[in-house]
Amino acid sequence: MNYIGSKFSILSYIDEVVEDFTKLGKKVTFCDIFSGTGVVSKYFKEKGYNIISNDIQYFSYVTLKGLVENSDELPFEKLTKKRIDPFVCLNGLNGKKGFIYKNYSLGGTKRCEFKRQYFSDDNAKKIDAVRMKIEKWKTKKLITENEYFYLLACLIEAADKVANTASVYEAFLKDLKKSAQKPIIINPLELIFKNKNYEVYNKDSKELIKEIKGDILYLDPPYNTRKYDTNYHILETIALYDNPKIKGKTGVRVEETKKSNYCLKNKAAIELEDLIKNAKFKYILLSYNDEGIIPMEEIESIMKKYGNYKRYEKRHKRFKSDNEREYKKNYTIEYIHCLEKI
Ligand SMILES: C[S@@+](CC[C@H](N)C(=O)[O-])C[C@H]1O[C@@H](n2cnc3c(N)ncnc32)[C@H](O)[C@@H]1O
Repeated sequence: MNYIGSKFSILSYIDEVVEDFTKLGKKVTFCDIFSGTGVVSKYFKEKGYNIISNDIQYFSYVTLKGLVENSDELPFEKLTKKRIDPFVCLNGLNGKKGFIYKNYSLGGTKRCEFKRQYFSDDNAKKIDAVRMKIEKWKTKKLITENEYFYLLACLIEAADKVANTASVYEAFLKDLKKSAQKPIIINPLELIFKNKNYEVYNKDSKELIKEIKGDILYLDPPYNTRKYDTNYHILETIALYDNPKIKGKTGVRVEETKKSNYCLKNKAAIELEDLIKNAKFKYILLSYNDEGIIPMEEIESIMKKYGNYKRYEKRHKRFKSDNEREYKKNYTIEYIHCLEKI
């Protein structure tokens, strides 16, 4: 998934910094409290760490439950007994005119004030049918909770692949792009099998931090005013499937319960300091780039209040969500601010 602030392309850099700064030399408990797509959690899971993983967005939590917390084969025992292969069944479903079709496809919105084309008509109907089927299997106890979240994670990934956007959901494209014309396919996502402890949460970091402890706390909060709830609102709705009230051209969710203080200039630094102060972790590593709303010097002075501080930096290709935005440079500097708490 092309996610704003994804650390997919700098995983080995984060790893090098973890090794160099902590010098722990053994696999301890690693907490990824702003997990997003979960790539950082999955990377350190693969390396053999115990993982605590969290995100305020429900669609992200679904992915974490499905791919980070799950660490065993998923037998789909009850479906198998009925000779149902979940993926063959889901991919073979006929489309249904549900919430996604009615609100986010051209066919479904043709008589509405706002016409939207986030998905082709067929893909939107298919997303509805698959989402309803997964829920039905859960209600009828034909799948376990682990299997439920895993299937939802697979659906979210598949839906994102055929979305008619430049990458985020703050706008859709006028014409159906090539990838959006292809029929959606729900593929099984790769699971990592390790025998360690995995905890997954869907909480505001400032609440969760009071409840957990560990060795390494990795922070990757939003660093600018671009909000994740509006940029990924449709994935959130597919995950929740809660028939939300929506508004305007983009059909964004009306409820505003997941606004992040890290996106607000007057609140981000206070929020960060509060998190660091309350953290019961020896090592804290913060990813933040040179265009973030908290100045580098302010982060340094906050961290220095709580222990030994060191900063690492690396050039990184810029995240581009559309082709129209003009940027002064095509790279950013990715800092990792490190603190050893004393
Ligand atoms: C920069 S992204 C993380 C990207 C992630 N490391 C990755 O590689 O995919 C920031 C994430 O923080 C989440 N977030 C924002 N405010 C939060 C809060 N107060 N508590 C928990 N998560 C929050 C957002 O939903 C978003 O997924």
